[in-house]
Amino acid sequence: MNICVIGTGYVGLVTGTVFADLGNDVTCVDKIKGKIDSLNKGIMPIYEPGLEEMVKRNVDDNRLFFSTDLKDAVEKAEIVFICVGTPPKDNGETDLSFVEGAAKGVANAINGYKIIVNKSTVPVGTGDFVRDVVEKNKTHNTSFDVVSNPEFLREGSAISDALSPDRIIIGAPTKQVAVKLLELYATIGRPMLITDVYSAEIIKYASNAFLAIKISFINAIADICELTGANVSDVAKGVGYDSRIGHAFLNAGLGFGGSCFPKDIQSLVHTAERLGYDFKLLKDVLDINKERVPHFVEIIKYKTGGLKGKVIGVLGLSFKPDTDDMRDAKSVEVINMLLNEGAVIKAYDPVAMENAKKILPAVKYCANAYEVSEDADALAIITEWREFKLLNMERIKNLMRRPVIFDGRNVYDAERTKKMGFEYYSIGRA
Ligand code: UGA
Repeated sequence: MNICVIGTGYVGLVTGTVFADLGNDVTCVDKIKGKIDSLNKGIMPIYEPGLEEMVKRNVDDNRLFFSTDLKDAVEKAEIVFICVGTPPKDNGETDLSFVEGAAKGVANAINGYKIIVNKSTVPVGTGDFVRDVVEKNKTHNTSFDVVSNPEFLREGSAISDALSPDRIIIGAPTKQVAVKLLELYATIGRPMLITDVYSAEIIKYASNAFLAIKISFINAIADICELTGANVSDVAKGVGYDSRIGHAFLNAGLGFGGSCFPKDIQSLVHTAERLGYDFKLLKDVLDINKERVPHFVEIIKYKTGGLKGKVIGVLGLSFKPDTDDMRDAKSVEVINMLLNEGAVIKAYDPVAMENAKKILPAVKYCANAYEVSEDADALAIITEWREFKLLNMERIKNLMRRPVIFDGRNVYDAERTKKMGFEYYSIGRA
């Protein structure tokens, strides 16, 4: 099949590459020329395990192309995927201007029947919006259909998520249109659900919202554990053995960040409000999340006896492991609060430091965790990169001015770490 993918961000680049890998001819289009030039030279705009190799393989096999020429890519394509950014406005509402721009671009280029697919995360009703924009602006008298096919991939495991998703959701206006999309995904062999367009749009938000609810729930339980002396890791384990609940997304910590959960939950709250429903549950989820970092910094401040002039070593900057994405990363909140209290910050992250330098210029960036530990009054673990679990803790202890660890992601075993001679504070664990 010939496919056009508009937008080479996370979703567009990964989706386009995976479709090419499944044997389709794919052109990924972006209006940022520099990005397309880099991609054509094999330089990835993001860090994502396995992506670079897959892009190279498919470019070499002439199945994957990068271009700024939207018209040419749409003309050739049977299916056009809209994968552009959907950032939040100040009031939490989703800004659809990039989606609108992409839809106008398709309308200008349309030369015959196409299926236009919304893959970006967009509020319910956006399918209608895209249909209207294309209808009003189309330069060729042709029919077309608009489908919702939300993406569920996670950063850091995007390739395997796209190749082996838990489910494929196709919200289509008719069965025939849905079948065309089914063909595209047939080789993946994963569960598929065909729905109307509105339901598919809501499935994406409901999924992210439910996962965020799990995270805020366990974080609230962590606070209770701290007040009672219980251990949230054991509580989560015990709760998760109930097959109706499961263990996933019950890791207590500094709360959820990234480019999806915070914005998507706000967007759903906003959409609900527009429809006349006050989504109190999700407002609480956001409030609990907002409290995580101030609570953590308060503990650091109290246990270090004041932060003025103290050297705090920060391990992990990206919003989660296996990505260089700093969008809504908890490290930014933590570091800015520590700096405001007069602390000196040294930091290390395996891949996100280049991105971090643009947002956090006042930090001293180090080559590894050991350099961070040198003369530090405390270490704060913000992102649970695997390499932090494998550190030589004896060496770390000897390098530090005072061996204190504030573990914001419960990376270490409390008993063992204390036995090694550290003062150790974690989330929801006595
Ligand atoms: C999330 C969803 O998991 C994907 O299914 C979805 O496709 C994507 O958003 C999206 O809408 O595009 P992602 O933002 O990449 O994916 O990251 P997650 O792994 O879901 O983590 C989100 C945040 O929750 C991170 O800050 C992470 O540290 C935090 N988290 C996750 C916890 O605090 N505790 C947990 O138990 C799990």
